[in-house]
Amino acid sequence: MTEMSVLENLKQKALGELETIESAEALEAWRVTYLGKKSELVAVLRSLGSLPVEERKDVGGQANAVREELEAALEAREESMAEKFTGDPLGIDITLPGRPWLAGRLHPVTRIINEITDIFSSLGFSTVEGPEIELDRYNFDALNIPKEHPARDTMQTFWMDDVDEKGERHKLLRTHTSPMQVRFMEKYKEPPFRIIVPGRVYRYEATDASHLPMFHQVEGLLVDKDVTFADLKGTLYEFARRFFGPTRKVRFRCDFFPFVEPGVEMAIECGSCSGAGCRVCGDTGWLEILGAGMVHPNVLKGVGIDPEIYTGFAFGIGVERLPMLRYGVDDIRLFYSNDLRFLRQF
Ligand code: PHE
Repeated sequence: MTEMSVLENLKQKALGELETIESAEALEAWRVTYLGKKSELVAVLRSLGSLPVEERKDVGGQANAVREELEAALEAREESMAEKFTGDPLGIDITLPGRPWLAGRLHPVTRIINEITDIFSSLGFSTVEGPEIELDRYNFDALNIPKEHPARDTMQTFWMDDVDEKGERHKLLRTHTSPMQVRFMEKYKEPPFRIIVPGRVYRYEATDASHLPMFHQVEGLLVDKDVTFADLKGTLYEFARRFFGPTRKVRFRCDFFPFVEPGVEMAIECGSCSGAGCRVCGDTGWLEILGAGMVHPNVLKGVGIDPEIYTGFAFGIGVERLPMLRYGVDDIRLFYSNDLRFLRQF
């Protein structure tokens, strides 16, 4: 048999077999047999050197033509198999189940802030926001906390590096949202005022299950003629009733904040033990959620409002506390660890 008819037979046989192939493994075996290093075709190409010159050219040309034809046929077969299997020439398997779309959602702390602002907006409060980088004048001085006042120590402060001519620092990360009381009154001058101020606050503190260097507060401020402590209590009772439901008990106790007089803290009955005392409430049966009080006359005077004519109340809610109480989250760090398994639950 001449080399030429060997090649022709080989080609016919290979193409015939290829037609019947249905699996990727069989296709690979076919490739090894007919195009691999040990294939007959390659053997023919290797033997060219031993052929007489005239024959060498013809056989060589024919062998290369066969190789190209087989390679093209292999490729075509691969494609048609992919198409048959998936119905798609790109090889995407449309029979696989779809991947579900993950719906985005608001962070639990954002949702709580929205709930708080909704409650207070229905009570006539507008929502405003203020800067997180504050001046010590607003964060402390104008709130009746002069330099050297011990109350400054209770709010461990992150100071910015900037200094004035005297080398003193004035810029800080606000330690509470109360500076917005002053900014707002300074700007709008004429009561009545009824605002709430949600936002981030910062304290230079060690992190643990109930402390973070950054957390949220919602400040409240109401100033008008004839505002009394009863208005403060009524407003905050109403807030607690709407947020925690009508049966949760609420308690006020005296507390001290330099920018209010008198000052109080408000606590709600512990939801975990219903007041009996447990780990969550440190065996007290109560959980503090906010500080509040009647706006100090010095604060009003400082912004040019006559405390003989106007009075008001202010409060500052610790936001993270609320979802912790409501959902029984026992570690504040969970809110900011970016673990979607945690966040997707809300
Ligand atoms: N700013 C106080 C704090 O961060 C809370 C507070 C606000 C107390 C308003 C009284 C009135 O602790």
